[in-house]
Amino acid sequence: MTESPIGVFDSGIGGLSILQSLLAALPAEHFVYWADNGHAPYGEKTDLFVRQRSLAIAEHLIKRHHIKALVVACNTATAAAIHELRTQHPHLILIGVEPALKPALKISQTGHIGVIGTRGTLGSEKFHRLLTSLEDQARFTVQPCDGLALAIEQSTHLTLGAHSTAQITELLQTYTHEMGDFGQAPGQMDTLVLGCTHYVFAENALHKLLGPQVQLVSTGQPVAQQTRRLLEAAALLRSGPGPHALANRISLLSNGDLASLQAAAQRWLGLPHAVCRRADAHV
Ligand code: DGL
Repeated sequence: MTESPIGVFDSGIGGLSILQSLLAALPAEHFVYWADNGHAPYGEKTDLFVRQRSLAIAEHLIKRHHIKALVVACNTATAAAIHELRTQHPHLILIGVEPALKPALKISQTGHIGVIGTRGTLGSEKFHRLLTSLEDQARFTVQPCDGLALAIEQSTHLTLGAHSTAQITELLQTYTHEMGDFGQAPGQMDTLVLGCTHYVFAENALHKLLGPQVQLVSTGQPVAQQTRRLLEAAALLRSGPGPHALANRISLLSNGDLASLQAAAQRWLGLPHAVCRRADAHV
């Protein structure tokens, strides 16, 4: 099992932001990444749909790719399916992601924290529990961002790309304006939690909009560290001379637009197109 790959999945390219941290933290491991972009975005679909997709992908990665661990690199899928995934695969090492409210508490000086994510994540019971448990420690302003993950997903598309990039800026302007004032003065939001793995790829646009002093908090590093800890504890960490060439230890699968995934993997991870392949359409 030690030699087996780690499975990672997301509705599309968002999970590449988590994969980036996994690659850095686990230099000897192999990864198989499932971009479910034939069904993206997840954020505005029903819980049932997202749960069914998550279970089908997990099943496939276990049976066909013999993964030793699964990272659910998607906040929406974690909120909708992590419980069921744990129930159905009690022996699999499973790591989910959730909006980084706790790390944000440690950073914020003004005590006012913004949270953006999909409707599915922010409307979930799981998120509600997390928020309620921390509400006495800071003020949180929560904003679902309909359409944003899709615009980011399409930003590397050959023909839709330019329009989507303009749309990302427009949507961010609208949503952050609705949230209120950002800055470091008392009462203002000085910290923004990126509660969707896609949003990491809009960090530059957010910095331009909110100013460099507003801290953006994402989950890649803690998730990668947690994955490493769990593999170590189970004696499943792959040892080796690593770091191996990236292209030899990653396989990216897409059941949607393959060219968009290739462009995203090249732009953000510096990966050659050859690491991306078509996924089994029956999953
Ligand atoms: N990247 C995912 C998340 O973290 C899903 C975005 C979507 O497909 O709507 O929530």
